[in-house]
Amino acid sequence: MLTNASQVLLRNSDLVKDQSVLVLNYEGDTLLKALLDSASSVSALALDFHHHLIMQPYAAKNLQLYFGHQLPSQECFDSVIVYFPKAKALAPYLFNLAAKHLKPQGQLIVVGENKGGIKSLPKQLPDYFDKAFKMDNARHCIVFTSELNRPAPEIKLQDWYSKYQLQTPQGEITICNLVGVFSEKKLDEGTKLLLENLPKMQGNVLDFGCGAGVIAAALLTAQPTLKLDCVDINAMALASCKLTMQANGLNANVFASDGMAQTNQHYNGIISNPPFHDGLTSTTNIATDFVKASAANLVRGGLFHIVANRHLPYSDCIAENFGNVNVSAENNRYKIYSNTKR
Ligand SMILES: C[S@@+](CC[C@H](N)C(=O)[O-])C[C@H]1O[C@@H](n2cnc3c(N)ncnc32)[C@H](O)[C@@H]1O
Repeated sequence: MLTNASQVLLRNSDLVKDQSVLVLNYEGDTLLKALLDSASSVSALALDFHHHLIMQPYAAKNLQLYFGHQLPSQECFDSVIVYFPKAKALAPYLFNLAAKHLKPQGQLIVVGENKGGIKSLPKQLPDYFDKAFKMDNARHCIVFTSELNRPAPEIKLQDWYSKYQLQTPQGEITICNLVGVFSEKKLDEGTKLLLENLPKMQGNVLDFGCGAGVIAAALLTAQPTLKLDCVDINAMALASCKLTMQANGLNANVFASDGMAQTNQHYNGIISNPPFHDGLTSTTNIATDFVKASAANLVRGGLFHIVANRHLPYSDCIAENFGNVNVSAENNRYKIYSNTKR
């Protein structure tokens, strides 16, 4: 099943007939495969690891798939398709990336949902692109096209992140937050409560949904001997977390995981401000899956320590998987659940 944006792209696939095409920020479907009926080759960069995993089985010589915040090469294409991002702040980065991978006068195609901010695309496109032209409007989505009219600036990662100091109970830490990543410019209230109630941990610890690495940096500052795995589904978050580790002179193993699927260790501790929404998946499913997988991944005596909005349905599944529910701290918005695996 194609997303609305992909369906509209598909009906405009003549735009890329016999061309080499790069697709940036593609969605959770198999449009890329269908594009090959028209394009001569497709390369694609997923910023969401789940989307990458959906496409991975179809990788081929003429269908090159990457996950990350940039491509591994400088290769240039006849056309670049950009899915307008849900995090609007990411859009200018994607336009710059698109321009760096376009041949001179190459074609830019941008698709997005009306409600997602694409309507103002003509005002948002940098001036190294021609004025955007509205090509199609269907299924609550718009397709714009444009052309690269001159070379775009080099992409230097430091131009795309905000770097700020945070005073935490564990000491001062530096946060590097790339565009579109959670907690841009300020500390989340839930994470704040978690840092105020950070437990003593030991051994192998997982920071699930690490974002820009706020929890990881505070935890390692206070407890530098921990072996910390930091996972996230979002490429910009993973890159931010690596930058944050570097900026604080800390070491963690930062890698992509879709839920807990790619974490294969038995952990002595799991700490998290877990995601609370995900497009179509309900918050109940996210909570249930995360708690269940955490219980399975913890060694006996291991600590599950998370912060969650007090209205989220964590209690039942924690009781089911850990035998009881221990709320170790709370305020009017958040609860800290802290349970030991029996
Ligand atoms: C509430 S934020 C917390 C970020 C960071 N730990 C903090 O406290 O600032 C949740 C994070 O989970 C990530 N995430 C969302 N869905 C995920 C999934 N299915 N698997 C792994 N990470 C996910 C998001 O990208 C986001 O960075």
